[in-house]
Amino acid sequence: MRRRLVAGNWKMHKTPSEARAWFQNLLERLPQTEAEAALLLPFTHLPYAAQVLGDRVAYGAQDVSAHREGAYTGEVSARMLADLGCLYTIVGHSERRSYHGETDALVAQKAQRLLEQAIVPILCVGEPLEVREAGEHVAYTLRQLEGSLNGVNPPAASSLVIAYEPVWAIGTGKTATPEDAEAMHKAIRSWLEGRYGRGFAEGVRILYGGSVRPDNASALFAQPNVDGGLVGGASLKLEDYLQLLTA
Ligand code: 13P
Repeated sequence: MRRRLVAGNWKMHKTPSEARAWFQNLLERLPQTEAEAALLLPFTHLPYAAQVLGDRVAYGAQDVSAHREGAYTGEVSARMLADLGCLYTIVGHSERRSYHGETDALVAQKAQRLLEQAIVPILCVGEPLEVREAGEHVAYTLRQLEGSLNGVNPPAASSLVIAYEPVWAIGTGKTATPEDAEAMHKAIRSWLEGRYGRGFAEGVRILYGGSVRPDNASALFAQPNVDGGLVGGASLKLEDYLQLLTA
């Protein structure tokens, strides 16, 4: 049984002080639900997450350095994130792949750095619009997955989360249909089986991301291979995020 995960990716939104107040409101209103809540935050917000959320709501970063330590100005290491209690961290988000030129090989190194610190990578993959229109989306996404997991050996199924985020659905209001999401998630799980074995593949959570909102979440999360969501815009509004947790 895979526990549903509703992970909010705040991207570059809110100040640390605004975040602290939001965390307090969240804890006051946290619903009784079987789903796990997690927030992926800008680095600056993490000390407040540690203080306020503690171990009641999981949190983590949106990126990490591929290096362990050293003269890398502006970078943040996995060890620093672990010290602040991060349980999850995103790697390979399409915004980093396209605006910062991150390659599959770099994403794989980042995932490995996280695993060394027992932080669960939320590894993002997904195709752009022209690839979907050409009907090449499954091959494209699985190739990205293979490259981004090259040399990456998670110790258990619970040590890895995959997020399928079709680029054309991110921040656009266009969502994959539940059937399209399910078809891709199934293909990803079957690829994972070939790479890591059946038991492992059955335990890995595969999230859908791309314009998930309270009005479309239930249909997406009801698919057998959709184990929750990686949510951008709707995770910034407390009311919406609370509704997603019970969807
Ligand atoms: P939106 O939910 O705003 O489309 O963002 C999705 C996303 O990129 C989450 O990582």
